[in-house]
Amino acid sequence: MPAEIGKDVPRAARLLRDGEVVGMPTETVYGLAAAAFDPDAVLRIFEVKERPSFDPLIVHLADASALAEVADLQALTPAAQAGVARLTQAFWPGPLTLVLPKRATVPDVVTSGLDTVAVRVPDHPLARELILAAGSPLAAPSANPFGYISPTSPAHVVAQLGARIPYVLDGGQSDVGVESTIVAVPRGDEGWTILRDGGLSRERIEAALQAPLLARTDLPHDADATAGLGAHDHRAPGVAPEAPGQLLSHYAPRTPLLVGDVVALAKAHAGRRVHALLFEMAPSDLPAEVSTTLLAPSGSLRDAARALFGALREADALEVHLLVAERFPDEGLGRAINDRLRRASAPRPPT
Ligand code: TXA
Ligand code: MG
Repeated sequence: MPAEIGKDVPRAARLLRDGEVVGMPTETVYGLAAAAFDPDAVLRIFEVKERPSFDPLIVHLADASALAEVADLQALTPAAQAGVARLTQAFWPGPLTLVLPKRATVPDVVTSGLDTVAVRVPDHPLARELILAAGSPLAAPSANPFGYISPTSPAHVVAQLGARIPYVLDGGQSDVGVESTIVAVPRGDEGWTILRDGGLSRERIEAALQAPLLARTDLPHDADATAGLGAHDHRAPGVAPEAPGQLLSHYAPRTPLLVGDVVALAKAHAGRRVHALLFEMAPSDLPAEVSTTLLAPSGSLRDAARALFGALREADALEVHLLVAERFPDEGLGRAINDRLRRASAPRPPT
């Protein structure tokens, strides 16, 4: 029986209290939620998603005041504490995830044994109602099978995981459309580090912190942590081990996707069925036989981010030979869009 889709918060909360996993709307993408302090329920997330256990989960809170239940803020320097206060005041609820020293109460299965926990407050009324009704923070990854495109509607969740979960709480179409931006809070006097571009732009975070964000790739690569990944490690070179959403092939459609000069790519594949994902308008010299999706005729990166994953899914269902996508401006939400397209187009692991 496929999961039911509905707006019954008490019912979803009851399922969570009973140790079940349910689909949860957020402003970024849909999550696959379980009670964060219930290790068996959290394990079920990994089973349902077929997610490797080395990839830790984000803990979702109803309110920033619950932060101290999961994070050890006292372990931070006063400067880092002040930075956390500034960011949470400015951007929570919203698409910002902070990686902080964890409290011992957070089960290891949530954090994959790391001594840090990723936390955010989602900007969706039903998500926050659900967390309150469940009476517990909720651990949730995006509600897609590991490696596939993230869901931005309840129907996306049911299409892929519906047979494995009882219920998806219907919060409509996700407004932001790409996952949260993940920032690691400094433990000592190193800088603030961005682990994943997402729905909140680097520029806004840097303005609030009044400091530049370091990129994950600026950090030394720890070869040890690649151990569990086996011979086919398709992580971005130089990306550190806890691999926070940094697997190179991710968010991937089944149809091959190439990113770059769409006209040249289409011409190089003349005679094959090609579909192009474009920002605001089609180039005048795009071959006429190429079908197209315009992500944002408005020219707004926000609109493009919101449309991205749904458009990738629809394009994947066209059963063409090849998808091509253009690169977006490398600023604001354009960075998160380019990141997702790059991973969606990366060479796949052998299946
Ligand atoms: O917008 C979002 O963030 C969505 C919604 C549902 O909240 N969630 C989401 O979760 O994208 P997920 O699991 O697909 O991606 C979370 C990323 C993972 O790549 C994981 O490696 C990273 O967060 N992460 C979690 N805990 C971490 C930690 N302690 N240190 C570093 N990275 C961590
Ligand atoms: Mg994900």
